[in-house]
Amino acid sequence: MPKIVEISALEILDSRGRPTVKAYCTLSNGVSSSASVPSGASTGRAEAHELRDKNSDRYGGLGCFQAIQNIREVIAPSLQGRDLLTQAEMDEVLLALDGTKNKSSLGANALLAVSIAYARTLAQHQKIPLYQYFANQVGHQVERLPRLTINLFSGGKHAGAQVPIQDILVVPLSAPTVREGLHHTWQVYQSAVKIAKEKYNMRWLTADEGGLAPSFSSLQELFTTTVDAIEKSRYIPGQDLAIAMDVAASHFYCENTYFLGSESLTGMEMSERLKSWVDDYPIISVEDGLAEEDWEHWPYLKSSIEGKALVLGDDLLCTNTERIQKAIEKNAANALLLKVNQAGTLTEAAQALKLARSAGWQVTISARSGETEDDWLADLAVGWGGDQIKVGSITQSERLAKYNRLLEIEANTGLPVKEWH
Ligand code: PGA
Ligand code: ZN
Repeated sequence: MPKIVEISALEILDSRGRPTVKAYCTLSNGVSSSASVPSGASTGRAEAHELRDKNSDRYGGLGCFQAIQNIREVIAPSLQGRDLLTQAEMDEVLLALDGTKNKSSLGANALLAVSIAYARTLAQHQKIPLYQYFANQVGHQVERLPRLTINLFSGGKHAGAQVPIQDILVVPLSAPTVREGLHHTWQVYQSAVKIAKEKYNMRWLTADEGGLAPSFSSLQELFTTTVDAIEKSRYIPGQDLAIAMDVAASHFYCENTYFLGSESLTGMEMSERLKSWVDDYPIISVEDGLAEEDWEHWPYLKSSIEGKALVLGDDLLCTNTERIQKAIEKNAANALLLKVNQAGTLTEAAQALKLARSAGWQVTISARSGETEDDWLADLAVGWGGDQIKVGSITQSERLAKYNRLLEIEANTGLPVKEWH
């Protein structure tokens, strides 16, 4: 039986050019692997703590030297020489070494990098694909691939806040495969590029996740242009491709008021507005339609749009079991946006997944706006049986790494994509 012989780490740069953490793990039989962690910009308040150096002389304080040092000097010495642990045991060790609830001592970025590097090393040691390792971890039988949700337009914190809504995504519904879904989306994206050029005289410039960011004059225009781009590609909106949106409402909410462009709306008014959009446009998923602390109005929003669109919680839930439990009890949502680095370890994220599933919720497995070229997210979405995967657009390599890995998994397994229901 091999032992863990080395854990190490390196500060690398993410897709925004900001530092992040890459961890390495080596076993005594020579098996070795690594993993890099992403970083958000539109973060929820209840996320696990991402440790940054706060030394303004380096990367404006965003350096990750401390997190790296914590891996090298705290985590590595306590793991080196040990027999192989299960994933749950490994994560338990990491959590005990950190000792805080929000991972503020060693940093969630340090913990997660080691947690995933170890997963990949064990998968390699067991000679199984990484998605199979993840499936085994949660006892999931892999029979289908997740549906794609792909960024088309961006606003809010992922662009220049020219519109308050953060992301408009397309969901290729009629494409039976990842391969075809990507092609349908490419066509719609090209139509959107043309429209952006004609209507807004905008060069092909993209936001953080690769979405286009024209200066729409209204939110209505954002939706009609999306429908237009689908139609111009000769697809039927709502049938071939539908719309998913990430409102990220926490980021334009202050003192019980939603500052939606020039309007100031109450929670009820914001819910009504979301309902009218769902009624008027082929929207099948609404993420963070309300702010993360506006628990009062989430149940109303849910009752208004469920059955037509998913009520998906990102900042609301922060992949945190306590918040998911609260949302189940309050009847506040029916779908979890799962981001592993909001939780901090694979095991805790798996617990969030399990809890959401126990309530009959759908799950969208999501990347972050600051990503790396690492592709483990695709394996995670397949292995954990995600209903949807949310990676960003189809234009930047840190996003395409995940889509390309999905293509590879599809080619190797021949599995179909989940149908929408
Ligand atoms: P992020 O947000 O910028 O925090 O990664 C993405 C999202 O809100 O889904
Ligand atoms: Zn979000």
